[in-house]
Amino acid sequence: TKGCKLVGSGSAAPTLRVSNDDLAKIVDTNDEWISVRTGIRNRRILSGKDSLISLSVEAARKALQMAEVEPDDVDLILMCTSTPEDLFGSAPQIQKALRCKTNPLAYDITAACSGFVLGLVSAACHIRGGGFQNVLIIGADSLSRYVDWTDRGTCILFGDAAGAVLVQACDSKDDGLFSFDLHSDGDGQRHLNAAIKENEVDHALGSNGSILGFPPRRSSYSCIQMNGKEVFRFAVRCVPQSIESALEKAGLTVSSIDWLLLHQANQRILDAVATRLEVPPERIISNLANYGNTSAASIPLALDEAIRSGKVKPGHTIATAGFGAGLTWGSAIIRW
Ligand code: ACO
Repeated sequence: TKGCKLVGSGSAAPTLRVSNDDLAKIVDTNDEWISVRTGIRNRRILSGKDSLISLSVEAARKALQMAEVEPDDVDLILMCTSTPEDLFGSAPQIQKALRCKTNPLAYDITAACSGFVLGLVSAACHIRGGGFQNVLIIGADSLSRYVDWTDRGTCILFGDAAGAVLVQACDSKDDGLFSFDLHSDGDGQRHLNAAIKENEVDHALGSNGSILGFPPRRSSYSCIQMNGKEVFRFAVRCVPQSIESALEKAGLTVSSIDWLLLHQANQRILDAVATRLEVPPERIISNLANYGNTSAASIPLALDEAIRSGKVKPGHTIATAGFGAGLTWGSAIIRW
């Protein structure tokens, strides 16, 4: 079988920075509560001319530059997002903005905070089974658009950002995507969702659609609803198991990983998972103090910062895991 390796990374965040003190002006909270319970101090929020597409394109360009790959040589773009700027998908708009003349396939993957790990899996499948060479994976979300800004239990947690990696086909001896472990539990949706709201509307064809014979509907999404304690428990229970099983599939143990790179939801979740796995604190990658929970963007954003700061070095092995709404969760053992 063919190998797949990570050859570039990039990231981008909106310019507007919102601190805990800023949030204390709009909801009954304070910096200490937020810092102690979550580790978050600032988050970036889309405003002005920024868009999810513009952030994604910036992150993608940086990843391509690092990899020294031209947009025309990309043959697949995977946009992992749950907040697309078009209900039908955002990936083709990224392809357009990157000016890929070869019209590579571009599509969205919707799996909330697990989106990026699912993107890695999809890239590996396309490379190993479909003959693809250069797959651009983007994780990007703008949950700020779906947050209830009067709910102090959720609005303090989230931020907007985009991260990207380029995965390239290679010889199997250079393989950098070792193993995956993936799960879902639809029963847990009640603990975390932004579900569709169906509003029956009067229609030009007659009140309640009497002429059509059925009531026409118009839909929108509700704000994020979350039972924080249940989500916390779910993450701390399921993520260590998943990482252990991915390590086992790769024939590795916890002692062989250089970094633990979890979805950046909450510092207490990161610490609890590391404790259960017996990973020492200095091997945890964390940047959530600056960005909050950026959903599908959080893993590639933190990875990119760690690569560019020299923390993650070529040859390092990383255990990464996404978890969140769906519920979905999954791990990947990767090498930079
Ligand atoms: N500021 C001050 N007080 C607050 C705030 C706030 N921002 N939010 C809640 N409180 C209060 C509550 O009202 C409650 O008060 P009470 O005791 O008088 O009723 C008290 O603080 C404790 O609230 P809990 O919700 O029990 O606090 P908890 O310790 O569980 O922390 C938190 C809440 C931080 C949300 C935590 O549960 C958590 O991080 N859970 C995981 C959430 C998560 O990561 N979600 C994202 C998943 S990824 C995705 O897919 C989007």
